[in-house]
Amino acid sequence: MVQIDLSGKTALVTGASMGLGLAMARRFAASGANVAILARGAEALEEARHAIEAEGGGAVEAIACDVTDRQALDAAFARAEARFGQVDILVNNAGSSLRKPIDEITHDEILADFDLKLMAAIRLIQLAVPGMKARRDGRIINVSAVVGKAPGGGAVPTALSRAAGLSLTRTLSQELAPWNIRVNALCVGKIKSGQWERRYAASGKGQSYEEFLRPVAETVPMGRLGEAEEFANAACFLVSDAASYITGAALNVDGGLSPVA
Ligand SMILES: NC(=O)c1ccc[n+]([C@@H]2O[C@H](COP(=O)([O-])OP(=O)(O)OC[C@H]3O[C@@H](n4cnc5c(N)ncnc54)[C@H](OP(=O)(O)O)[C@@H]3O)[C@@H](O)[C@H]2O)c1
Repeated sequence: MVQIDLSGKTALVTGASMGLGLAMARRFAASGANVAILARGAEALEEARHAIEAEGGGAVEAIACDVTDRQALDAAFARAEARFGQVDILVNNAGSSLRKPIDEITHDEILADFDLKLMAAIRLIQLAVPGMKARRDGRIINVSAVVGKAPGGGAVPTALSRAAGLSLTRTLSQELAPWNIRVNALCVGKIKSGQWERRYAASGKGQSYEEFLRPVAETVPMGRLGEAEEFANAACFLVSDAASYITGAALNVDGGLSPVA
């Protein structure tokens, strides 16, 4: 493992009670950062806090919050700043999977997807940027998906909100570069997380988790789903000084799945 030192930094990670968000929060804390973890479900969030604290490293603040609730999001950010003084690293990760045929999806479902995956990220960036500008140091990751670059059929609304998130990443990387604020995206392919565990549980088939995942794994050139820790390693690199000249990138973490680099 490449050793990365984030001590003295504070990271705020949304969607951090499980899956990729939890893996990132763990990795950041293990690298010395204090972490504010956000998700709606308070119980899972507390479990996540205990799991991170048990591994040592940076301190953890668990903040139950629906990121689509603007007032709750503002209060959550204020709480993270009050606890740790500043937010140096922001990871917009909260998300869920929604794909429906265009003649079945409702207008409200499309708006809700944009609220979750785009507008919440914009709001948090607006909250974090003034402090980052003042310190002339900031590291932002927008978690996206390979479908944002290469949509297939039936990918509304995810492909749309993800493409918008990639555009947000590009435009802000240009706008904020003079303040040494780096803005990058990570495009997820298929990585083991709570999402996949819930799909397995809902499948009701009498097969093992690995058997359930096998047909999915066969669609990936590397022949397997990614591990959340592999994703967290990429995130940890991007927010570290080791990536000090990287901004505006949209890095696929997908085992070769995406046809678009
Ligand atoms: N894993 C994959 O293969 C894959 C593929 C493509 C994209 N992604 C993207 O990667 C990101 C992480 O997903 P994951 O796979 O790790 O999923 P996951 O295991 O289901 O975790 C999602 C996290 O987001 C939180 N969350 C969901 N809605 C929220 C809301 N409104 N406010 C605050 N927190 C919220 C969840 O907690 P609560 O439900 O308690 O709020 C949970 O902590 C998501 O943006 C997802 O769309 C993942």
